[in-house]
Parts: sequence; C-alpha cells; structure tokens
Amino acid sequence: MLNTEWQLSGNIAERYEEFLVPVIFVPWARDLLARAALGPNMKLLDLACGTGIVARMASASGVMATGGDINAAMLAVAEKHANGTQLSFCHADAQALPFDDQSFDAVICQQGLQFFPDRRGSAMECLRVLKPGGRAIFCTARGLSENPLMQAQATAFSQYFGDGAAAPIRAVCAFADAGETESLFADAGFSPVRVDKVVLNLFAEDAVGFVDGMMKATPVADKIGTLESATRQQLRSTIIDEFGACFDGSSLRFPHSANVAVVSRL
Ligand SMILES: C[S@@+](CC[C@H](N)C(=O)[O-])C[C@H]1O[C@@H](n2cnc3c(N)ncnc32)[C@H](O)[C@@H]1O
Repeated sequence: MLNTEWQLSGNIAERYEEFLVPVIFVPWARDLLARAALGPNMKLLDLACGTGIVARMASASGVMATGGDINAAMLAVAEKHANGTQLSFCHADAQALPFDDQSFDAVICQQGLQFFPDRRGSAMECLRVLKPGGRAIFCTARGLSENPLMQAQATAFSQYFGDGAAAPIRAVCAFADAGETESLFADAGFSPVRVDKVVLNLFAEDAVGFVDGMMKATPVADKIGTLESATRQQLRSTIIDEFGACFDGSSLRFPHSANVAVVSRL
C-alpha cells in the first residue's frame, strides 16, 4: 500500500540511506546544524530522525544526540550506522514524546513535520521537552512548483501508475506555507518564531544512478519494482526529462526549497 507518512520498510530504508541521504539530507543537515549553533555536550533531539543523519553529524562534533522516529526499519538503519558514544536512537512518536520535560537544549526536525497527523500537538511536545532558552528548528519542503525533485517524480508516477501513486511525493510538499508554519509555532507557545524560505542547490553527479536509486528509496518503490526492466528504464528517462534544464546530460543540479522555522522556548 502506498503511504503518505513515509513509512519505509526493510530494504527501502537502507536504500533511503544509500541514495537519498548523501544528495539531499546531508547538505540540509549541515545547514540546519549551523543554524542550531550547538556546543559540545549540549543535548539535541533529532525528531523524526529517519536513518539518523542529523543526530550522526551532530554527535561527530561533540553534541549529545538522540534520534527519535516511529519507524522501526529506519531506526534499525540508524543504529547500524551509529558510530559514537554520544549518540542514541529510540522509538518516539512526535505526538507523545518519550522524554521528560526540559530534557533538550535543541530539537531539529528535518523533513518530518509535514507527515505528523497532529502538527500542533507535536509542536507542543517539542516545547515541553525543550529547556527554557532552548531552540527548535523545523525544515519542511515548500511547494512542488519550487522543487523539481518532487515535481519530476510526481509527474512521472502519475503518468505511469495513475494520480494516486504520486500521493507520497505530493505529501512531502503538503505543508508548504510559511505563514501557516509561523502560526503553528506561535500558537503552540514558542517565542520568538522566525520562518525563512531557504533554497539549497543540490547536486547528483551521476543522474542515472541517483534516479535509479531514488526509485528504490521512496514509498513508491514496491510499485516500481513490479515494472518490466524496459519500462523501469523509460520511467527513469521520464523523471530525468522532467528535470529539464537541471539535467546537463550527465549530472543533476537542482534547487531544493524549504521553509526553515527557527523557534525558541523563553
Ligand atoms: C522524509 S523522512 C526524514 C527523515 C530524517 N529526518 C532525514 O533527514 O533523513 C520522514 C520521517 O518522518 C518519520 N515520521 C513520520 N511520522 C512521524 C511521527 N508521527 N513521529 C515520529 N516520526 C515520524 C518517518 O518515519 C520518517 O522516518
């Protein structure tokens, strides 16, 4: 079944780490960690950590990082790649975090908020687990029209499988409004609240390898797996064509646009 909450299972979680993390999530994690400006031994919650890239990069600079996610397959990959003592992972539902009040100096949530069924409840949970003076950073994709990566997949999947197949990709861009994001955190009790549009230019040197990998690394992977090899190659070409001028004949260089909310607990 296709899902819009990015519940990746088994091998798909491994492929997410292998193919999507280096091109998309490492550059964003670098950006978000710079905004968090954490010092050694500060405590960070990487919320909806997936395979744990934010927590892993934070712990490499001496931060005490905890990654929490509801998906066991993603957490298993996170554990497998964990390489430091200042790093741990656990099951955590964003709506009911398994942490004491005021446990963390900072929370970072990279491309997770749009999937939470109760965003306001999750924001209030983040406020609860933050120490006074603590800061939370949420990064959520802006609209499809600003994100060739998602637009290309949504268009191609609709064409090959029908409109419903694009739902998980559209879901990535489903909480795209900066004003709504600002209201969400202000209403939850954060102050000050600041939301910026941030665009990173991402790069996949081997376009074919990246798109082949990506097709195995999203909730649509099982559906793509049923295609004949020739049809799968056509789908790959369709996706690459949809990138238009972002494809230079061998590589992809594309803008990736997100709202970054930096919000504090007084
Ligand atoms: C696109 S992935 C992002 C993962 C990670 N932050 C990264 O940067 O690679 C979205 C993640 O949100 C998680 N997620 C969705 N709903 C959640 C919830 N209610 N509580 C915690 N995690 C959730 C999914 O399991 C998935 O790992």
